[in-house]
Amino acid sequence: MTKNISLTRYLVEQQRSEGHIPSQLRLLLEVVARACKSISQAVNKGDLGDVMGSAESENIQGEMQKKLDIIANEVLIEANEWGGHLAAMASEEMEGIYVVPNRYPQGEYLLLFDPLDGSSNIEVNVSIGTIFSVLLKPEGTGVSEQDFLQAGAKQVAAGYCVYGPQTTLVLTVGDGVAMFTLDREQGSFILTKENVKVPEDTKEFAINMSNMRHWDAPVKRYVDECLQGVEGPRAKDFNMRWIASMVADVHRILTRGGVFMYPWDKREPNKPGKLRLMYEANPMSWLIEQAGGAATNGKERIMDIAPSKLHERVSVILGSKNEVERITRYHHEA
Ligand code: AHG
Ligand code: MN
Ligand code: MN
Repeated sequence: MTKNISLTRYLVEQQRSEGHIPSQLRLLLEVVARACKSISQAVNKGDLGDVMGSAESENIQGEMQKKLDIIANEVLIEANEWGGHLAAMASEEMEGIYVVPNRYPQGEYLLLFDPLDGSSNIEVNVSIGTIFSVLLKPEGTGVSEQDFLQAGAKQVAAGYCVYGPQTTLVLTVGDGVAMFTLDREQGSFILTKENVKVPEDTKEFAINMSNMRHWDAPVKRYVDECLQGVEGPRAKDFNMRWIASMVADVHRILTRGGVFMYPWDKREPNKPGKLRLMYEANPMSWLIEQAGGAATNGKERIMDIAPSKLHERVSVILGSKNEVERITRYHHEA
C-alpha cells in the first residue's frame, strides 16, 4: 500500500476516479472525521478533564446519560450544522430530529449517529466509539422525521470511529471497507487497511452470556453447540469475547472474524432488541456486508427492514457469513 494516504486524499480519489461520492458527501465525511478527532481528544483527557461520570440526565430511551454522551453529541452537531451539506441530523441522545438552523444553508444529506457507543466502558478505560450513517433526503421541501425512515440499504455512507489504544476511523461509501488510523502528530487520519474482509468461518463468538436464560431457542442452540467444542456437533473449540462496546466488538470482527449477537430476549418481550436500528445496526450491518460478512435479525436481512420510528430497536446477529447463515437457519428451523 502506498504510504501516507490521508482520509482527505482517499475521499478525493473516491470522488474523482470511482465516482462514488459527490463533493458534498466528501465534505460531510471530512467534517464527521474532524468531529471524531475532537471527541477522541475529550475521551483521552479522562479524569484530567471535566468529561467523566454521569450527566444526571436521561435520554429518550430511558438510559442514564454520561457527560461524554452529551459532549460527543454536541461536538457532532456543532461540527456539522454550518457546512451546508446537511438538511438534518438524528441522534440516539436526542428525542426528535435536529434540523439545520435557518441561518445556515440546507444540504441534501441526513446524518444519524450514536455519538458515544459503549458508555458503560468510559470510566473503566475500555474502548468506546462513535457510529454514524448517512442517507439522502428524499425530494421535496422541508425535512421531517419521516425522511429518516429509510431502510439501511439506502445508506450512502456509514462508519465508526473507535477510541481505543489507537483511534481508528472505519468507513464505507459502498466500495468496500477502509480503515484510517489517527496520526496525532500530523493531526490526520491515515489509510492503514483497504478492502477489509471478514473471514467466512470463525471460532469466536460475542454475546452477553449473562442473558442466556432469557434467550430464544435458536440462539441457545447455537451458543450451546459452540460451548460443546471438539466433542460437540461443531467438532471445534470456540473462543468467546464480549467488550460491551459494539464498536470494539465489530472492530475485532472486521479484523479477524467472529460473530456478534445482541438478540431479542424475554426480559422485555415487546422490545425487538436492545440495539438501535438506525444508529447502530444499519451502519454496522453495511460495513460487515461490504467486508463480505452478513447481518440479520434472525429472520430478515437487517438492511432490508423498513423502519417505523427513529429510535426503533432490533435484534442483531452479524459477522462471519457461514456462522450468521447457520444461526439464521436455526431460526427458520425453530
Ligand atoms: P450505548 O453505550 O450507545 O448505549 O450502547 C451500548 C450497547 C452496545 O455498544 C453494546 O454491545 C451493548 O450495549 C452492551 O450491552 P450489555 O451491557 O447489556 O452487555
Ligand atoms: Mn451504542
Ligand atoms: Mn450511545
